[in-house]
Order: sequence, then structure tokens, then C-alpha cells
Amino acid sequence: MIDKEELLRRTAVKKSFAIVMFLILCILAISCDSSFSSKEETVNVEDEISDEYIVVGFSQLGAESDWRSANTESMKAAFTTADGYKLIFEDGQQKQTNQITAIRTFIQQEVDYIVLAPVTETGWDTVLQEAKDAGIPVIIVDRMVDVSDESLFTCWVGSDFELEGRKMAEWLKQYTLKEKIDPSFIHIVNIQGTIGASAQIGRTKGLADAARENGWSLLAEVTGDFTQAKGKEVMESLLKQYDDINVVYCENDNEAFGAIEAIEEAGRKIGSDIASGEIMVLSFDGVKKEAMEYVLQDKITCIAECNPLHGPRVKAIIEALEAGVTPDKYSYVDEEIYSASEVVSSLKVGETTYDVIILTHDIIDQRSY
Ligand code: AHR
Repeated sequence: MIDKEELLRRTAVKKSFAIVMFLILCILAISCDSSFSSKEETVNVEDEISDEYIVVGFSQLGAESDWRSANTESMKAAFTTADGYKLIFEDGQQKQTNQITAIRTFIQQEVDYIVLAPVTETGWDTVLQEAKDAGIPVIIVDRMVDVSDESLFTCWVGSDFELEGRKMAEWLKQYTLKEKIDPSFIHIVNIQGTIGASAQIGRTKGLADAARENGWSLLAEVTGDFTQAKGKEVMESLLKQYDDINVVYCENDNEAFGAIEAIEEAGRKIGSDIASGEIMVLSFDGVKKEAMEYVLQDKITCIAECNPLHGPRVKAIIEALEAGVTPDKYSYVDEEIYSASEVVSSLKVGETTYDVIILTHDIIDQRSY
């Protein structure tokens, strides 16, 4: 016989058990439901990326110059989700090893295309072979790669860096001829770009060949790594080593900005009147407005343009590939040469004559970058 107290106790136990069971079932139901729905969500997002978008992995070499920033912006503006692209951007911070890691990650992510802006020319064979084995087309942009098998990349688009250098050297030759300056009076220092980069190799060759042919004295070739800080540091040291420098050939505008600071701080005068003791600065890019303003002030006497707006060009290549069209293996961009001096109005390199754009404020304002 169960007494009333025992009956109440048993009922309370049963109720507690029922409540605990109910709570456990609720927790299980919630967790099952949420894990199911989050898994479903992941799958959906992945499907959306691979099905709806063309996925492009872009290995940019770094952020060393104004040119590079403009180039990065151009790529980001070209490959937007609104246009059907998903751009995965990786900054290599000037290190080839970082770029190789980025390419391997793109391969694991099974991107549709890899775009590579290589820091230097050599050392890409292995990783490009891996991309080829994975069936992913690789488009090289800006600088070139030097590989044993050209089928390791689909195509390249960029500047003819040697032509840029030859144009600049021809401008100097024509200027000195017209100003009746003897070649033996010319004492040049070359602040080079990153050693092993196509932009350095081509521009250095353009000057070195011309110096040899024209009898100019090429006092020194030292890398400034395409940066303002290094350009300044190198110029400071060159001014201490040589007192007869009258031409500074900077392989980009950021180096020129640094070299100009160093020259002015050393109390020397910058300008094209080298016969009167000024130091003439020559440069490449013409991207930042400040560089173009310096041309008007004769702080940079001549700039050979290097065009950074490759985003739409790479996009056109991908569109061609998507449509089953084979793009040209190499696409060179047309570029200008700018000066505020009217001494040289045109110059001939090879069989081609190039007009020198005599820079004005209006021309600067009309430019797209
Ligand atoms: O490869 C292009 C060069 O790289 C640009 O001239 C320079 O500014 C950049 O760093």
C-alpha cells in the first residue's frame, strides 16, 4: 500500500523526468535543425560562387609604387560581382615565395582563371606546370615570365619595357644633339628597378645600349627597388660618390620623387639646363598627377609612359577565352612619351617615329589616371 506522501513524491519525480526529457528533445531538435540548415547554407554559397561567377585568382606582386596601386585598382574595378566575376586578390609583398603560395592556393580553390603579375621573370616553371596540370589557364600581366615551355601560360599583356628605355635614351640623344652638348659631357646614374623584373631588365638595357653607342658615361647602375625611400637613399649615396652627375635615369616615378628630394637636400639644382650645372631627372610611368606636375616644373624633364590600366585588357582576354577564342600570345600596350621641353618634338626608334607629347595643364587634366 502506497501512502499519500509516497504517491506525491513519485508524481513529482515523473514530472521532473518528463520536463528533463522534453528539454533534451528540444535541445537535440534545435541543434539538428541548425546544423542541417548551416550545412545547407554552406553548400548553397559554394554552389553560387562556382556556378554563378567566373572565379579569378589574382596574384599581385606588391604595392611598391603609384603605378602598382593604379594597376590593382584597375583589376578590382574590372572584376566585379555585378559583372559576373569573383576576384580573389592576393598581395605578394614583393616576394616570389608569397606569389607561388598564392597560386597553389588558387589551384586548391579550383578557380577558373589565374592572373599573375610576377615580381621577377624567372622561377615560375614548377608552379605554372601545377596550374597547367590542374587545367587552369594562367594569364600573365605587366612583367613577363621566363619559362622553358611557353605553353605553361595562356597569354601575356603589358608594356614593352625595352622600347620605353630606348625611347627615353633617344629623347636624351636628340636633346643633347639639338642643344649642342658633347656626348662626353653626359654623366649618367641609373637608379634601377627591382633586379630581375622585366621593367628593370628592359629599361636598363635601353639605356646601357644607348650609352655605349653614343659615348655617354654611365657612372653607376644601382637598384632603387621601384620605391621612393630606396630612390632617395641610393641618390644620396651616389651624390657622395660622384660630383659630375648631370643625368639621373630613374626606372620609375617613385624613385624619381626620392632622387629629387636627395638632390635638393644636397643643395644641387634640378632641371634640363645641364650645361649650366643642373641635374636632369628622367623617369618612367606618368601615373601620379604629382609626377606630371613635376614635368611642367622641369623637375622631371621627360617621362616615358607605362600604362597600368590592365584590368579591362585582362577581362577582354577572359571573355575571349570564355567564347572559345584564342587570344594573342603577347599583347603590347601603346604608350606615350611626355616632356614640357619643346626641344625634341619627335623621335625615331627602329622604324617607328613617336611624337613627344609636350605637356600642358590641360593634357594632365584630360588624362584618365
Ligand atoms: O612593372 C611595371 C613597373 O613596376 C612600373 O614602372 C613601376 O612603377 C612598378 O613598380
